[in-house]
Amino acid sequence: MIANHIKTKMQAGSWIRDMFEKGTELKKIYGDGKVFDLTLGNPDVPSPKEVNESIAKRASMGDNIHGYMSNAGYPEIRALIADRESKRNGVNLTANNVTMCVGAAGGLNCVFKALLNPGEEVLVQAPYFVQYGGYVDNHGGKLIVVPAKVPDFDLDPNLIGTYITEKTKAIIINSPNNPTGVVYSRETLEKLEKVLTEKEKEFGTDIYVVSDEPYREIVYDGVEVPPVMDIFHNAIIVYSYSKSLSLAGERIGYVAISPNCADVEALCAAVPFATRELGYTNAPALFQYVLKDCVDCQTDVDAYKVRRDILMKGLRELGYEFPEPQGAFYIFMKTPTEDENEFINNYCLPRNVLAVPGRGFGCPGYMRVAYCVAEETIKGAIKALR
Ligand SMILES: Cc1ncc(COP(=O)(O)O)c(C=O)c1O
Repeated sequence: MIANHIKTKMQAGSWIRDMFEKGTELKKIYGDGKVFDLTLGNPDVPSPKEVNESIAKRASMGDNIHGYMSNAGYPEIRALIADRESKRNGVNLTANNVTMCVGAAGGLNCVFKALLNPGEEVLVQAPYFVQYGGYVDNHGGKLIVVPAKVPDFDLDPNLIGTYITEKTKAIIINSPNNPTGVVYSRETLEKLEKVLTEKEKEFGTDIYVVSDEPYREIVYDGVEVPPVMDIFHNAIIVYSYSKSLSLAGERIGYVAISPNCADVEALCAAVPFATRELGYTNAPALFQYVLKDCVDCQTDVDAYKVRRDILMKGLRELGYEFPEPQGAFYIFMKTPTEDENEFINNYCLPRNVLAVPGRGFGCPGYMRVAYCVAEETIKGAIKALR
């Protein structure tokens, strides 16, 4: 018999994966071109050509590039990343502040493993990436969900403040946001820092800001994603190349810890230790080498912008409401029925349009559509919805 806790979680399921499986079934019946699957955040813009060239070059180098290394990753690659984050954030990181990790998912698990005592709380404001609940629960913590600020889905620092207790250990921020595409302004983040600092004083605690940044470079119309270490004293960045280099299946990213963090030395040692404890051991070796060649490469953001614009225009013409995504590749739209599952099951699925219910992100009454798919799929979806 499998464990009860995993059984319960499996029954609760993941809305994103459930819809994805439905899409696979429908494609078998109707064929690929007739199903408009907007469920998964799996980038379809190819990796930059330099990535494939680097894989080929590195793989044929002949020396032992596939072995273990220190749990934190290769020092020269961590130093490279420390240098980039130092410049971006205006703080002084060294290789010691950086741990290479198995995508953002692996990085978040290592951070929570390093931070959480049983029963400690991690805040997030809805809507949020649903896996956070599992990542926090894995390490004995409790995810506390602050209600969404509608209709703009911005962060609400004052409301967040009312959810902070002496048990609050961390807050997760994710900007550009999955599922809304909203980018938080410097002004909003500075207000949040003020609230967090006041609460730290009130309770005599440290509250870490875990900034989950897989979409950092995917922004439109010149929007700036403010560097968090320049704003928050207790900032931890979790970065991933899944989206920015279209490497989601290769599982490569990093955790960077601000030198201003409380207990920084212990934290910088605990995160690589957690990598080992959790059985990742280290981030994929080959892709650490690839980063050495490709750390400055960029995905084709313009391709996502074209798709975003087609989808926004189509949905607006049909009268749907949503905040304009400033980044990432999702639109989080209000459904015409209060229960979004009613709309998805009775109106979208019969027309082969697949979307993820908002309750999968802690926000019923909405659905998420992903536009990291071919333009034909987006156009087909709009036609079907019309
Ligand atoms: C907000 C957010 N965080 C983390 C992840 C996990 O990313 P990774 O593939 O790097 O583990 C995702 C994946 O979609 C995401 O959207």
